[in-house]
Amino acid sequence: MVASIPIEASRQPTFDVVNLCVKRQHDEILKSISFSAAPGELIGLLGPSGSGKSTLMRALLGVQAITSGSVQVLQSPPGSPSLRGQIGYMAQNSAIYVDLTVEENLRYFAGVLHQPSSEVTRVAGVVALTSFSNRLVSSLSGGERTRVSLGIALLGSPPVMILDEPTVGLDPMLRRDLWRTFEDLTATGATVMVSSHVLDEAARCARLLLLRNGSILFDNSPAQLLSVAGCTSYDSAFERLIEEVK
Ligand SMILES: Nc1ncnc2c1ncn2[C@@H]1O[C@H](COP(=O)(O)OP(=O)(O)O)[C@@H](O)[C@H]1O
Ligand SMILES: [Mg+2]
Repeated sequence: MVASIPIEASRQPTFDVVNLCVKRQHDEILKSISFSAAPGELIGLLGPSGSGKSTLMRALLGVQAITSGSVQVLQSPPGSPSLRGQIGYMAQNSAIYVDLTVEENLRYFAGVLHQPSSEVTRVAGVVALTSFSNRLVSSLSGGERTRVSLGIALLGSPPVMILDEPTVGLDPMLRRDLWRTFEDLTATGATVMVSSHVLDEAARCARLLLLRNGSILFDNSPAQLLSVAGCTSYDSAFERLIEEVK
């Protein structure tokens, strides 16, 4: 069971980002990014490698120094104590313990998050790892490790989920199941942001944020993307948009 979010809270934006700029040395990594997102939205953050997806996600988590602009998550500055336990995050390079089993990893993080052991069982099922519970993480494939990290992000059903490339390296069936899981989470009122450099994942999201070179190139539905670009594939629509902004 996933807890639903009170209607009162759902009137407020989950993310509110205004003119966010991030510079590293002299490089502009994010260039005046603005968007907001409401509870229940499934947002695909898509863009090629190096476009700034992970940097934007880190800014939402409060672990990225920002140069200017403002970022609010659930009406609080990222990293605020009030956001503790409210955000499930899956990093692109997962930080799980390879010398522990799948279940030991989930139990460890459930303990950190003060979650009951029933949550360990639940999330193992969601990421289809129940039969792998006693396997050492060091013996798992890359895709299986990704699922362990995703399971950790799902512990406690947080109202905000920030998932950095959770479907990369997974087989198509599992990828489809995971996108269904993301949709189910949003149906309970959670806001889920999922990044991917695979533009075809676009069709799965109700809303797309396309990033390129640190700027938002497009923010609307997948159907709108194909219609605006006059294309039938997301790759060619993306290329068409890039041509237009040159
Ligand atoms: N630690 C770092 N130091 C300098 N530049 C970095 C660092 N991390 C990322 N970058 C640069 O920031 C840009 C955006 O990176 P990132 O947010 O990881 O993109 P994405 O997740 O879309 O692949 C890239 O040009 C990358 O080279
Ligand atoms: Mg990244």
